[in-house]
Amino acid sequence: MLLQPNGKLWTDTDGKDMQAHGGHMLFADGMYYLYGENRLDNAYVSCYRSRDLVNWEFRGNVLTADSKTEAIRTRTELRLKRGDGGKVNIERPKVLYCEKTGKYMMWAHYENGVNYRDARICIASCDTPDGDFTYHGSFNPYGNMSRDCTLFKDDDGAVYWLCASRDNADLHIYLLSDDMLNVRKHVNTLFQGEFREAPAMFKKDGRYYLLSSYCTGWAPNQGKWAVGDTIDGLFSELEDFGDETTFGSQPTFVWPVDVHGRTEFVYVGDRWNYHYYADGEEHLSPPEHMKAYYCKSSFVILPIRFDGERPYIEYAEAFDTDAFDR
Ligand code: DGJ
Repeated sequence: MLLQPNGKLWTDTDGKDMQAHGGHMLFADGMYYLYGENRLDNAYVSCYRSRDLVNWEFRGNVLTADSKTEAIRTRTELRLKRGDGGKVNIERPKVLYCEKTGKYMMWAHYENGVNYRDARICIASCDTPDGDFTYHGSFNPYGNMSRDCTLFKDDDGAVYWLCASRDNADLHIYLLSDDMLNVRKHVNTLFQGEFREAPAMFKKDGRYYLLSSYCTGWAPNQGKWAVGDTIDGLFSELEDFGDETTFGSQPTFVWPVDVHGRTEFVYVGDRWNYHYYADGEEHLSPPEHMKAYYCKSSFVILPIRFDGERPYIEYAEAFDTDAFDR
């Protein structure tokens, strides 16, 4: 089955443009849930649901500037609006089910809405995948910066947070606490001075593959991959993934699919509508009059193939869910 075309705006079952940028996908109760950034009105994160990956039903803006807030044991900054009442900036939301608490946990990148200097993790939780999430605030893990990010759940249930740190120069990996309300241990620092953004991790044949982009604002650049035998150990040196613009996209997540009992992997990237951004030094979030363009960003979804241990993608107009059957 062909998914909605690559690089074209996806629409939901009401015919509206889908706002699920920098997002994540979760499988729960026989349905796919897609989460992503939404810059419209008071929204931060939208959620869509589908049985077939083609027809997406809008389930709601699950995190907004008016979401309920609830403090947790560790000290966090609970504000969801700026001092002047404007919106803050919440990017790259990732959602996983927490076995320990039975809650759906959202982790994302928080900025103050004016510049990108706060570089914090923010956390929210909900009893259902598509309900109103309660916001638990933002923080710098062990005082470090945490910008472009992803969550990765290992086979043993351990969950890790991968994030760009030191002004994006290095990539950090943290093990989360079992309740997914804190980081517990810094377990790795990778790619010193390589300025990798948009991390996306998957595990194949017991090894940890990591895709990432370079740091060029919203413009696409050469993707890279690396692999490690353990998540806290040495990773291989970065090698090219996709072409010099990763086919006009930036990694957002890797989706593992079960095909006749074996696991295959699908690359999901954002094709940002970047031409319209005045992307200054501080990487300001899109100004009000430009949000309409950001909201026209689309996806690039391609099967990941392997040449030995080297993952690669080839461009196609649309992703065919039968691609791995052949
Ligand atoms: C690239 C990142 O991947 C995006 O999530 C966003 O933070 C932009 N940079 C901002 O310039």
